[in-house]
Amino acid sequence: MRLSPAAEAIPRSGIRAMAALAEGREGLLHLEYGEPGFFAPEAVRRAGAQAVLEERIVYTPTDGPADLKREIARKLERVNRVRVDADQVFVTHGGVGALYASLASVLGPSDRILMPDPGWPNVLGQVYTLGAEPLFYPLPAEAGFQPEPESWPVDERTRAVLINNPSNPTGAQFDRGMLERIAAFARQHDLWVISDEVYDQVYFGERPVSMLEVYPEGTLACFSFSKTYAMTGWRLGYAVLQPGMREWTTKIVESCYSSSSMVAQRAAMAALTEVGDDEIQRMVESYRATRDRACAILAQAGRQRYVPEGAFYLMMPAPRGVSSESFCRLLLERKSLVAVPGSTFGRRAEHEVRLSLAAGEDAVAEGVGRILELTQELETGANRLGT
Ligand SMILES: Cc1ncc(COP(=O)(O)O)c(C=O)c1O
Repeated sequence: MRLSPAAEAIPRSGIRAMAALAEGREGLLHLEYGEPGFFAPEAVRRAGAQAVLEERIVYTPTDGPADLKREIARKLERVNRVRVDADQVFVTHGGVGALYASLASVLGPSDRILMPDPGWPNVLGQVYTLGAEPLFYPLPAEAGFQPEPESWPVDERTRAVLINNPSNPTGAQFDRGMLERIAAFARQHDLWVISDEVYDQVYFGERPVSMLEVYPEGTLACFSFSKTYAMTGWRLGYAVLQPGMREWTTKIVESCYSSSSMVAQRAAMAALTEVGDDEIQRMVESYRATRDRACAILAQAGRQRYVPEGAFYLMMPAPRGVSSESFCRLLLERKSLVAVPGSTFGRRAEHEVRLSLAAGEDAVAEGVGRILELTQELETGANRLGT
């Protein structure tokens, strides 16, 4: 009997592969997971607990309850400066659910989608599951992980572009000018833009502009409660669809998981109505302090290439001639450090490692130090690979 070829095409997550190698080992420094190191705000936890105790937890409308959709539309106007009808909001099972709902609404078998390299790998699995094909566009480290949309490949099967702003794994951000170049390209070739904005509120300088503002007629935007509110395990996100698309996407989501969790919906409502900006800022400030400390260490060692502007990740190069996977294994073996090989995020990152800044300031400072140490050992040949 045959198993699905889609699953065969999906590469195993390097994040989980490293975690598996590290399993059962004591005293390791963990910098692999993009997991905020905080509890969700108290109002969120209370609302979830109260729903469980006092309400019948049942199926909800597939696209989420009307009051939550209205509150999300308000948040989009207040935070992202875009006006959308509450009917365009589709509440999903995490940001990953918003991505799947969006992709499955516009892509069919053999359709092509332009995707960032390096990029967050899970979307690639979704593309393969749909029988669609990825076309990668480079985000070169030497260009500060910025793309050049005018040179992207496109053919008659290309239907969409995926962007992720701010980016996992790089932490780089696209400014308005870049979004306008991407929009011009999408307009010229009649493409959807699937805009992954799950880190929309995790930024350290300029607020990231939403693609909904720049390309309103062709954007499907994906958001999440996971990162802003440290709610990764609650599994709630939302997509902003085009007007009139709701029924279409409902058919897809209904056949996958009926509706998102009512408990998480109640908690999300509290996140939007009871959690102040100061609580969010406190978490973001801690990521910023971690980023600043990591960058200062790199600058002092003469190894700073760029400064992440959002999300909570930092890419560091592996020593010349060493693959990211070998380097991460050596980091584990010799420096008791768990980082993610860049190869997980695409061919362009085969000589990179990704650190999560969410692990906390001291842990990341220590981790950056150990990476620099091993890099120097390998580069000076004192401790060559395999010896
Ligand atoms: C770039 C990016 N998009 C989407 C997601 C998915 O978010 P969620 O955990 O809400 O499903 C993640 C999670 O790490 C991510 O990093």
